[in-house]
Amino acid sequence: MSRCRVCSHPIREFFDFERQPLSSAFPRTGELDEEYFFRLAVGMCESCTLVQLIDAVPPERAHHQGYPYHSAASSVMCKHFEQTARRFLETELTGADPFVVEIGANDGVMLRTCGDAGVRHLAVEPSGATGVRAHRAFFDAHAATRIRDADGTADVVYAANTICGVTDLQPVFEGLDVLLAPDGVFVFEDPYLGEIIERTSFDQIYDEHVFFFTVRAVGALADRFGFELVDIERLPVHGGQIRYTLARPGRREPSPAVADALRTEQAHGLAELVTLERFAARVQRIRDDLVALLHELRADGARIVGYGATAKSSTMANYCGIGPELIPFVCDTTPAKQGRLTPGSHIPVRPVEAFADPYPDFALLFAWNHAEEIMAKERAFREAGGRWILYVPQVHIV
Ligand code: TMP
Ligand code: ZN
Repeated sequence: MSRCRVCSHPIREFFDFERQPLSSAFPRTGELDEEYFFRLAVGMCESCTLVQLIDAVPPERAHHQGYPYHSAASSVMCKHFEQTARRFLETELTGADPFVVEIGANDGVMLRTCGDAGVRHLAVEPSGATGVRAHRAFFDAHAATRIRDADGTADVVYAANTICGVTDLQPVFEGLDVLLAPDGVFVFEDPYLGEIIERTSFDQIYDEHVFFFTVRAVGALADRFGFELVDIERLPVHGGQIRYTLARPGRREPSPAVADALRTEQAHGLAELVTLERFAARVQRIRDDLVALLHELRADGARIVGYGATAKSSTMANYCGIGPELIPFVCDTTPAKQGRLTPGSHIPVRPVEAFADPYPDFALLFAWNHAEEIMAKERAFREAGGRWILYVPQVHIV
């Protein structure tokens, strides 16, 4: 039986996507024999209600040896990280000589903005690929001790799209206990289970997302590791996230937003298995609708391409069985993905220039989390008669 990675109680499985590849491992044509697959299934802890993957990819098989790397290809995300830094500069980093640390560093946009304002900063990132001052390590008590000895305690430790992928959180919290100043805060943001359920955004479930947090589960997790959840904030990025602020117990007055969110979660049944079973039924419906629509359009002679070879679209394409016979290519701005194939589904990835050469009849928006930005940039596609196909919160054409 699978057990919760935080509290060791049994996990109740509610959905099985079956055989799935590593969402960031884009093979070349000659490398298909070496692709790694695992069973992607999700369940909920009977005790602390934390939703999590049943099986995680062993670290030695994980494509990234470090934390999930997120490119700053999106101008919306760059702005988001700049605003995050500005907020910290106005609230938490106002002391005499403040110090901010980021676990994983998302291209360093947040830390660079703090650095430009004269604030001491450090990324903790095993690959070191951050573009800012970095300590090359996984964040744990050992790394935290070395950092504290060199730089002193931290006023803010921040992590975006990172904590949900760390299978063993104990060492992270041991590190926080070492590094955080008495009144310091740990702020992290990740996809929100409430949004995933509400939008049926099942493609948020993939190898690099091990945990699907709720306010309730994070509150329990904070208690367990000797911290307290003192604030939460909903974020619109990446299809709906929550930013959690944790402090040492009793150091901060919890904001009313926490209690409000707990009430909302209860009203939406987020801690009940039946809610997740209903979600599972909607996921199957989306697959059936999407596959039927693509076959119908192809039968009518329409040309359909994909847009944005995101990690999350790996789950969508593999779960729906969508390959190059339905979608001849997917375009993406990331040079490292171009010329390769999408993981498991083997759709060729081409530069975005291929999109308009000539425009297809339909574009399946794999990167629906960047819909606004991409649709604005590609306005000419619709003006030329093209249509976008989206599959979240249900299959629809715009
Ligand atoms: P992400 O959702 O993990 O940030 O991944 C976004 C992917 O979509 C990434 O491979 C880059 C690609 N992309 C484009 O091709 N064009 C765009 O305008 C944006 C915002 C992203
Ligand atoms: Zn648990």
